[in-house]
Amino acid sequence: MPKLQIIVGSTRPGRLAGPIAKWAFERAVADGRFEVELVDIAEYELPVLDERHHPVLGRYEHGHTQRWAAKIREADAFIFVSPEYNYGPSAALLNAFDYLGREWTYAPVAFVSYGGIAGGLRAVQVMKQIVTTVRMMPLPDGVVLPLVMQNFEEGDFVPPPSAQGAVAPMLTELLRWTHALGPLRAEGPPPPTLPSGPVAPRP
Ligand SMILES: Cc1cc2nc3c(=O)[nH]c(=O)nc-3n(C[C@H](O)[C@H](O)[C@H](O)COP(=O)(O)O)c2cc1C
Repeated sequence: MPKLQIIVGSTRPGRLAGPIAKWAFERAVADGRFEVELVDIAEYELPVLDERHHPVLGRYEHGHTQRWAAKIREADAFIFVSPEYNYGPSAALLNAFDYLGREWTYAPVAFVSYGGIAGGLRAVQVMKQIVTTVRMMPLPDGVVLPLVMQNFEEGDFVPPPSAQGAVAPMLTELLRWTHALGPLRAEGPPPPTLPSGPVAPRP
């Protein structure tokens, strides 16, 4: 079975990302089409990006980066559980994303987003643009949770019917794209380039 990682996109104490990601994890496990793992950015203790080299080179100097890269390398597909901070993604999710390059390449990603009236969709729109830079495929199918506080009862996440119904179509598309992209992902990315030309790291 292909491997799906569900990335918890907030590291904030008291985060809603925790229970929402756990729900998504349980639903994906029950669905049975992926081997599923919950991946908590907080456990990797990533400082604000402190690697010397551009991530497309994969020359990771720090143990925390190597550990994070090894984890992400294991997956075939991703779900990002994303809050919306100031109409964008959380700094924690973006930072964890920026650490790596080829580990994300040619993988499909779907989003479970939440927040106020926009349900985190503005953050998702920003992340979709960013993930394409490393040749990830962001999917339109996902789970959106507007006014998410209304879905919490005494600290427990009680998903609305719309969210329950959105999980299976999201996993179906993730699976199709996982199969379609599998050969490319196995082959790996082309030689690293930047818009300005080939990467020439400083010594
Ligand atoms: C720094 C910050 C900025 C926020 N900006 C937005 C926003 O732009 N849109 C929104 O819907 N909610 C916003 N919120 C509210 C979050 O949706 C809410 O706090 C949510 O619980 C954050 O996810 P988390 O608990 O998993 O960290 C913001 C919260 C924080 C802490």
